[in-house]
Amino acid sequence: MNTNNPADTPANPPVTPSATPASDAAPAPVSPETQAALASTAHAPNSPGATHIRSFVHRRGHITQGQLAALERLMGQWSIPYAPRRLDPATAFGRQAPTVLEIGFGMGETTEKIALARPGDNFLGVEVFNAGVGSLLRRIEDSSIPNLRIIQHDAVEVVRDMIAPDSLAGVHIYFPDPWPKKRHHKRRLIQPAFISLLASRIAPGGYIHCATDWEDYAVQMLEVLGGEPQLKNTVDGYAPRPDYRPLTKFETRGLRLGHGVWDLIFKRVA
Ligand SMILES: C[S@@+](CC[C@H](N)C(=O)[O-])C[C@H]1O[C@@H](n2cnc3c(N)ncnc32)[C@H](O)[C@@H]1O
Repeated sequence: MNTNNPADTPANPPVTPSATPASDAAPAPVSPETQAALASTAHAPNSPGATHIRSFVHRRGHITQGQLAALERLMGQWSIPYAPRRLDPATAFGRQAPTVLEIGFGMGETTEKIALARPGDNFLGVEVFNAGVGSLLRRIEDSSIPNLRIIQHDAVEVVRDMIAPDSLAGVHIYFPDPWPKKRHHKRRLIQPAFISLLASRIAPGGYIHCATDWEDYAVQMLEVLGGEPQLKNTVDGYAPRPDYRPLTKFETRGLRLGHGVWDLIFKRVA
């Protein structure tokens, strides 16, 4: 998703893929709980209390009534509130299974497909963007996806505070915000300190899979992942796209226009 955004904001996540259904026409009432939940995600990049440079900015982006209604109705069922204590995946998912963390799922198109294709794995999706969370909640309900949970919070804090060391079977980071301007590169998610923290949360033998359509970010990813002693590349350089990662419509369009996409798959070494 090569969103070459001229503004001083990160690339926008994909636009809601479907046409607005009829049920979206009527405004949904928003409870005080939902309003509080929405307000609690209103992080400024360097809001007071932030201990690191955020990889996102709060956007008052468009949210459909359907997404808002899904937040209202389904948040309690499928989301786990952020808390500064370790999460027990067996309790969160109601079963023991390998857990894969996805950071920044956007509208959840890929997340849905992967979770459906891999029913034996648990998927924990982390996203800050209200419309995206609402969109994935709708997908969970519409496609009856039992093995997916959502945390709406900064993934850096989720990884630091909620994920136990050596616990994840895998990590997916697909098309993270590219922050194309040089002076914004410090906001990119794939940085040595965060990758070191994240790698420590992956079980030995587990994997981290990143993809980007920004060549200079791909180069940075290869350098950062390659420089992390807890990780080892599964191939020499960039990996072929594995079958479990579906092509998004943005990617298909980009590839048709001759743009590149780079996948990186590294394993956690003991
Ligand atoms: C460019 S979009 C890509 C979305 C999706 N992975 C895809 O392939 O279409 C990047 C997403 O990451 C989210 N994001 C950025 N930084 C994040 C963070 N620190 N924690 C959680 N989500 C984050 C943004 O809100 C945005 O939705």
